[in-house]
Amino acid sequence: MIATVATVAYLGLEARAVEVQCQLVAGLPNFIIVGLADKAVTESRERVRNALAAIGLALPPKRITVNMSPADLPKEGSHYDLPIALAVLGAMGVADAEALAHYVVVGELGLDGRVAASPGVLLAALHAGGRDMGLICPAAQGAEAAWAGNVEVVASPTLSGLLNHLKGSGVLPPPQPGGVEESVSGPDLRQVKGQESAKRALEIAAAGAHNLLMIGPPGAGKSLMASCLPGILPELTPAEALEVSMVASVAGTLEGGRMTRRRPFRAPHHSASMAALTGGGLRVRPGEISLAHRGVLFLDELPEFQRAVLDSLRQPLETGEVTVARANAHLTFPARVQPAMHVCDFLTIRSLEEAYAANRNHLYPC
Ligand SMILES: Nc1ncnc2c1ncn2[C@@H]1O[C@H](COP(=O)(O)OP(=O)(O)OP(=O)(O)O)[C@@H](O)[C@H]1O
Ligand SMILES: [Mg+2]
Repeated sequence: MIATVATVAYLGLEARAVEVQCQLVAGLPNFIIVGLADKAVTESRERVRNALAAIGLALPPKRITVNMSPADLPKEGSHYDLPIALAVLGAMGVADAEALAHYVVVGELGLDGRVAASPGVLLAALHAGGRDMGLICPAAQGAEAAWAGNVEVVASPTLSGLLNHLKGSGVLPPPQPGGVEESVSGPDLRQVKGQESAKRALEIAAAGAHNLLMIGPPGAGKSLMASCLPGILPELTPAEALEVSMVASVAGTLEGGRMTRRRPFRAPHHSASMAALTGGGLRVRPGEISLAHRGVLFLDELPEFQRAVLDSLRQPLETGEVTVARANAHLTFPARVQPAMHVCDFLTIRSLEEAYAANRNHLYPC
């Protein structure tokens, strides 16, 4: 018998449907995972084996084949542990295959059978909603998944708790959406003494969503004023808050499923690499420009950034999205940073030496 469980692969901010199939056949005992799985997925064999042992089940002495379809789509991440475990349990006849057919499943397993958090649950929940299915996810991320609206969310802390829920013997309570964070206290423009013209430029940039370049002597308060910008920007609309939360969910930084209406403020260090700023790396993650989506990307000490890194920001700043090209996939993340804030120390720009003589900040909304 072949047991199937639905799950997802994350491609940028898109969750693509993946089906985990498991078949047990007579032969030499073996446990194989196929379907372009990366290291974290192939390692899930050991986590699944141990998690089953923790609930008192041993893998049957058969040839266990797990296939992840579509087989040409690369599978990355640890959120495949739980769907693989449930597919194996379905094939063993321990989990009810019919009950599982109504759910999209994501979650990482611990050796003791705990279901641990994994990034991207909000995307999986929205995907499940689009397919009229429910979502099985880690208990720690139930509040995040519940934001998706009318999706049945089963958030279990353990594998045994989940099996009991599916059997109907220990029903898990549906999670409630995480709270909306009230304005987090950050630097306030009130703290800035004087600098009236600089404050006005900041207000104009905030009102018109302009980019801003600040030039002034060291210690004049450029960095301080830049960090005050999110405080005077309008709150995120609910739709924007969801977009920002989706990026945070993929990055794994949406703590306790709490959404915030405050615009993000990201200030990467000038030694940041291109992958850190625009996204990418071995396991593709949103870069700083995507984490600052709908908010402020603050480049302190602008001239110190590597030229190639600054150049890589040109296209995302213009188009509002960043596309990471990889050998087998193109992933797109949003990157609509409205007031991209470039701050530099005028000492590095000789032509503006007069500004130093005047010993005051010059701000240019541009
Ligand atoms: N107008 C001001 N009102 C209140 N505090 C200020 C003001 N200007 C500077 N400060 C304080 O002085 C310190 C230095 O300011 P800040 O780091 O913002 O300067 P900067 O212009 O970014 O300097 P650098 O060019 O060296 O980066 C901070 O602790 C800041 O709080
Ligand atoms: Mg500074």
